[in-house]
Amino acid sequence: MKKKLILDVDTGVDDALGIMVALADPNTEILGITCCHGNTMLENVLKNTLRVLKECNRLDIPVYPGCSCPLLARKQYAGDFHGKDGLGDVPDPNAPGLELLQKKKAVQAMIDIVKENPGEVTLVATAPLTNLAVAVQLDPYFPQRLKALYIMGGNTESRGNTTVCGEFNFVADPEAAYIVLDRYTCPTYIATWEFTCRMSLPWSFCDQWLAQDTEKAAFLKKITALSFKRAQSKDYQKEIIAGKGFNSCDTYAMAAAIDDTLITESEEVAVSVELEGTYTRGMMVLDYMELLKKKHKAFIMKKIDSEKFKQMLMNSLK
Ligand code: BDR
Repeated sequence: MKKKLILDVDTGVDDALGIMVALADPNTEILGITCCHGNTMLENVLKNTLRVLKECNRLDIPVYPGCSCPLLARKQYAGDFHGKDGLGDVPDPNAPGLELLQKKKAVQAMIDIVKENPGEVTLVATAPLTNLAVAVQLDPYFPQRLKALYIMGGNTESRGNTTVCGEFNFVADPEAAYIVLDRYTCPTYIATWEFTCRMSLPWSFCDQWLAQDTEKAAFLKKITALSFKRAQSKDYQKEIIAGKGFNSCDTYAMAAAIDDTLITESEEVAVSVELEGTYTRGMMVLDYMELLKKKHKAFIMKKIDSEKFKQMLMNSLK
């Protein structure tokens, strides 16, 4: 049986690649893509998602509009890295229009799809966690019907990429991240900012990967040009840890959800999110001393099989 996924995205460049990786896997079935505000405004996220599906000839996959703003935080986007439109600011005049969207809202769609496939659906969340937080408010049994949850977000060493100590997806909606880490008691795997930085792809691999003579490679090359430039700038090199390549953050969570053998090392620990600190609002809290008395622990990803990961990336552009 194929692995059933729902992707909750804010299609940006790395979400786009994550979607392409999932589409390329023959053992994966995407039951729906739910969209959330994040890297850019919701309308762009929806357009970008449809555009990626069109590039891959998979407009048959339903795309649902979700939350357009965080629960309480002020809206913010990540245009510096992903471009104002979220996809590298290289518009395509032939991109599909919003009339292709499903009428049903993302949160209701998630709840319904999971109810129809109890215990079988893996949810991959690579956006701010607003849709997931609203889903558990509407249906408290939603998390326990999931097979697993994979998140890109949070941090382990107080290293920020948006605030001093905050990673974008958690800072963009800290209350939602808090609710999700508190109430999603299904097996939960987290690809944090530091982890993804350490797993950055060497530029030599990126050259070879994007040099594939395919339409998908040409598309990815076009949409990543801006973020590659940004990733190679001196400022950005200070932000990341290894400083030796391209960090396609969301793709790690996606690849791990697709292939159970990808994670080679993880740490099981209860996690939460700081909601009040002047400098630390949105930072992930790791409760090694078990002072929070949480029963549920998340798997914090530490290492993956890089060769397998690179092969998945190569396949995604074929
Ligand atoms: C996360 O923030 C976004 O800009 C990326 O798409 C990724 O989900 C990294 O902090």
